[in-house]
Amino acid sequence: MTLSDIEAQARTLGGYDDASRLRQVHDRDWVLDRVPGEPGVLVDLGSGIGQLLQEALERHPSLRLAVGLERSEHRIAEAGERLRPYGDRVVLRQADLTAPAALPYRADVVTMTSVLHWLYPVEHRVLAWVRDHLAPGGSFLLTTYHPARDEHGLGGEDDIVREALTALGVARESVPALLAGHEVLPIATRTRSESELAELLSEFFTIDDWWEREAVVTVRDAAQYEHFHAATFGDYYASVLEPEKRAEFFAAVGRAAWERQSRQGRVSAMPVRLWRLGARERRGLG
Ligand SMILES: C[S@@+](CC[C@H](N)C(=O)[O-])C[C@H]1O[C@@H](n2cnc3c(N)ncnc32)[C@H](O)[C@@H]1O
Repeated sequence: MTLSDIEAQARTLGGYDDASRLRQVHDRDWVLDRVPGEPGVLVDLGSGIGQLLQEALERHPSLRLAVGLERSEHRIAEAGERLRPYGDRVVLRQADLTAPAALPYRADVVTMTSVLHWLYPVEHRVLAWVRDHLAPGGSFLLTTYHPARDEHGLGGEDDIVREALTALGVARESVPALLAGHEVLPIATRTRSESELAELLSEFFTIDDWWEREAVVTVRDAAQYEHFHAATFGDYYASVLEPEKRAEFFAAVGRAAWERQSRQGRVSAMPVRLWRLGARERRGLG
């Protein structure tokens, strides 16, 4: 079967440079403004298309190594193009952060923006990895998103998806079961609450500081949100439908978002937290 353009975009998570302007890219300067001193090694986890690494290299001539770990081969390829001018100051590796392999570096700074929810429920693995890869006195700068969730654990993007599925004829009350039946965990469940996360982070780190902002998404039309969804969530949600309905699903997501904006002046708003963390001593080692 030939894929429609939007399905092809979702499959490769394409168009992220454009789409991320709506939400994720705002984390980049927010985080980099808090990088102390003159770091020599920075590691970005879930480095996407390399936007944060590029800005870090521009800001910090002191960086002799900027390392990106990322699961998507398409994104690594795009990051490779973007970061080519920085030569051997850059290392990009394909990696699954739910089972991260050790690296021969100690980082002055580790960053991870808009990624942690994808690692649920085994975030402790990457957190232990970061603790073990921070140089003495190094910082872990992490952003986490916290949409409100309902009694089914749905919220944020799940709500827009629920509206889109309903418009396509799925009964509203059966959406939680439809997602669960395809092992699609609601994003609002994956994101955990701030207090739950604080407890988890405290097992590995000292929480040295945190800041919060509201991420507000507005779009110029339905198509813009359709592309944002495909670039950000790929076919994560679309996979609950038969292949022949997926193109229509993306269009319905765009329409649902646009209707929300017409009703409430914005598609969505949710708190984002930036944590500055320092490594704790490993416990229980002789
Ligand atoms: C919303 S994007 C954020 C990208 C970038 N950090 C930013 O702030 O724009 C989430 C990224 O995490 C990556 N990702 C998701 N699960 C992953 C995993 N298990 N291992 C490595 N990367 C993963 C995705 O491929 C994607 O590039």
